[in-house]
Amino acid sequence: MTKVAIISSSVRIGRNSHRVALYFKNYLEEKDIAVAEILDLKQYNFPLFDERLKFQKSPTADVIEFSDKIKAADGVIIVTPEYNGGYPASLKNITDLLYSEWYHKPVAISTVSDGNFGGSQVLTSIQFSLWKMKAWTIPALFPVPNVIDSFDENGNLRGGQLFEKRTENFIRELLWCIEAKSRMGNLK
Ligand SMILES: Cc1cc2nc3c(=O)[nH]c(=O)nc-3n(C[C@H](O)[C@H](O)[C@H](O)COP(=O)(O)O)c2cc1C
Repeated sequence: MTKVAIISSSVRIGRNSHRVALYFKNYLEEKDIAVAEILDLKQYNFPLFDERLKFQKSPTADVIEFSDKIKAADGVIIVTPEYNGGYPASLKNITDLLYSEWYHKPVAISTVSDGNFGGSQVLTSIQFSLWKMKAWTIPALFPVPNVIDSFDENGNLRGGQLFEKRTENFIRELLWCIEAKSRMGNLK
C-alpha cells in the first residue's frame, strides 16, 4: 500500500496547524488510500541544524529514523504554519538536514494560518528550497485560513464542503505524482 509521511512542522506551545496533519492522516487511512504516519517535529525535538546528515559522524538514532521514514515514504505532505510570512525554523532545520532523501520525492505542501490568507506567503519559499534539492513539489494548493474555525483538535473538519473538494484534488495530485514516479523508475 502507498506510504505517505506527513510532516507536522509547528513546535509551538499551543500549536494549531497540527490539526491539519491529523486531518490528512485520518483522511488517508479512513478512505484506505494510504498508510499515513505523522512525523511530528515537536516530538522529535531535533537540535538546531549544525550539519547535513550525510556529513555527520555520529548521527543520533532519531535523525536516522527520520531520514529512513522520508526515504521509505512514497510521498510526503508538509503541513507548515506561516510565521511572519515565512516557514518556521523547525521546518528549515529538517529541510537542510536531508538531501538525497528529497530527490524526486513527491511533496505536497499545506500552509496554515489563523488569519484569512491561509499562510499562502510561505509557499514559494519552502517550495524553492525543496526544488533546489530536486524534490517534486506537486502543483496543488491546500491553504488553510482560520484554522481553529475549520478543524477541531482531533483534526475533524468543522463542516465545509470547500475543504472536502479541495482535499480530494490535493490528494489526487499527490497520488498521481506517486504513480507517475513509480512507473518511471529512477533516472538512469
Ligand atoms: C511568530 C508567529 C508569527 C506569525 N505570523 C503570521 C503571519 O505572518 N500570517 C498569519 O496569517 N499568521 C501568522 N501567525 C499565526 C499562525 O498562523 C497561527 O499560529 C496558526 O495557528 C499556525 O501556527 P501554529 O501551528 O504554530 O499554531 C504567526 C504566529 C506566530 C507564532
